[in-house]
Amino acid sequence: MNIAVLGAQWGDEGKGKIVDLLTPNFSIVGRYQGGHNAGHTVYANGRKFVLRLLPSGILHDGITCVIGNGVVVDPQALFAEIDEVESAGVKIGDRLIISDKAHLILPYHRELDLLSEARRGERKIGTTSRGIGPAYEDKIARRGVRVGDLANMDALASAVQHNVAARNRIIPESTMDAGQVMEELRKAWERMSPWVADVSLFLARARAAGRSIMFEGAQGTLLDIDHGTYPYVTSSNATIGGVCTGLGVPPRAIDGVVGVAKAYTTRVGEGALPTELTGEMGNRLRETGQEFGAVTGRPRRCGWYDAVAVRYAVRVNGLDALALTKLDVLDGLSELQICTSYRCHGTILTEMPGDHAQLSACEPVYETLPGWDAPTAGIRRFEELPREATAYIARLEEITGVPAAIVSTGSKREDTIIRAHSVAAKWFGRN
Ligand code: IMP
Repeated sequence: MNIAVLGAQWGDEGKGKIVDLLTPNFSIVGRYQGGHNAGHTVYANGRKFVLRLLPSGILHDGITCVIGNGVVVDPQALFAEIDEVESAGVKIGDRLIISDKAHLILPYHRELDLLSEARRGERKIGTTSRGIGPAYEDKIARRGVRVGDLANMDALASAVQHNVAARNRIIPESTMDAGQVMEELRKAWERMSPWVADVSLFLARARAAGRSIMFEGAQGTLLDIDHGTYPYVTSSNATIGGVCTGLGVPPRAIDGVVGVAKAYTTRVGEGALPTELTGEMGNRLRETGQEFGAVTGRPRRCGWYDAVAVRYAVRVNGLDALALTKLDVLDGLSELQICTSYRCHGTILTEMPGDHAQLSACEPVYETLPGWDAPTAGIRRFEELPREATAYIARLEEITGVPAAIVSTGSKREDTIIRAHSVAAKWFGRN
C-alpha cells in the first residue's frame, strides 16, 4: 500500500506530524518536490525537530528516506540538517537516498532570489529566500546543475564558470567566484556521493520486493506552480502529479491520497487569502496556534476554514481522506465560521477561480456554527470530543465531500485520532 500525504491548503498544514505518525506503516518515505523552503515540524522523543529537506520519516529507525528528482537540494542546508538530527542520536547511515537527477541550489540562486524579490517591489511574492525559484528556473531553462553532475567535476567546471559569469552580469555587485562554487561542490560530492542513486529504479525494485512507500508533499495545493494562486505560489508541483514526475513512479503506484488541512486556514507570504482575519480573531488564532513560519519565523496570516479551497484540493488531488489538524486551536471560541462559497462582484462562486485578481476580489460567504467550551487538546478518542466539535468536523466533511479520517488535537505524535472504520483505519489495519 503506497500513500501520498500532501497539503490541502497553503502549506504549514501539519504534514510533518502526520507523515511522522504514519511512518511505521511504511518501509520508505519519499519527498517529491520543493526544497528547504519546507519546514516540517515533528515532536518526537521529547524534542522538537524542524525537517526541511530530509523526509519526515527519518526519525524512525529502519525507514529508508528518499529525496526525489523533483526536489531542489542545497547541499549546505542538507548537511546542516543531517548534522542536527545525528547530534540528537538519529542514525542516518544508508537510510538516505538522493536522486542523481535532483537539481542543486547554488549560492547564486540564493542571491537571485533576494534580488528578484527586491526588483518586484510591491508585487513581491514573499518567498522564503532560499533560492528555490531561481534553482527551478535554471532547471526549466536546461542550464541547471544536477546532483549526478558532481561525479564529473571537469565537465561541471566549465558549466559552472558559464553560469556564474552569466549571473554576475545580472547582479553587477556580486563577487561570486566560480572557483569558490566549485570548491563547495567538490566537498559536497565527497559527503553526498554514497547516498546518490537512481531513485526511480530504487523505488521500482522496492515495490517489486513488496516494500511500501509514503510520498511526502511539501507546501500545499494552493501554492502549486500550476494549480495554486499563481503567481503567488512556489515553483514546484505540490499536488499529486508531482509524485510521479518528482520520483519517477507511475500513477498506479499511488494507492491512496491523504490531504492535510488545518481546522482553520493560514498562509505565509503574499497573495490572496479570502478568509483572512486581520483583527483580534486573527491574532488569537496566530497566538494560540503558534502560527509563525517554521523556516523564516514570519507571522502567518490566519483565517477561518476555507471549504472552497479545500474542496478544490480534494478535486485536484483526488483526496480519499483529510487529516484535520490543530482542532484544539479552536477550543474556547463561542462561534466558528466556515467559508462555503465566495461572493465576487455580486456573483456567488462555489469553485476556486483560476485568476488571482478575481480571487483577490472575492469575499467569503460564511456559515456559522457553535463553538465548544470543553477542551479538545490532547483528546485521542473521537467519542470524547465535545458534541459541537464533532458537528463542526461533520459539516466540514459534508462540504468538502471527504471524510476526516485523522484528527489531530495537539503537537505530540500521540495526540491524534485515527477514526475507526475510516479509510485510514482500513489502510493501517486499525479497525
Ligand atoms: P518559495 O518557495 O521560497 O519560492 O516561496 C514562494 C511562496 O511559497 C511564498 O509565499 C512562501 O511563503 C511560500 N512557501 C514556500 N514554502 C512554504 C512552506 O513550506 N510553507 C508555507 N509556505 C511556503
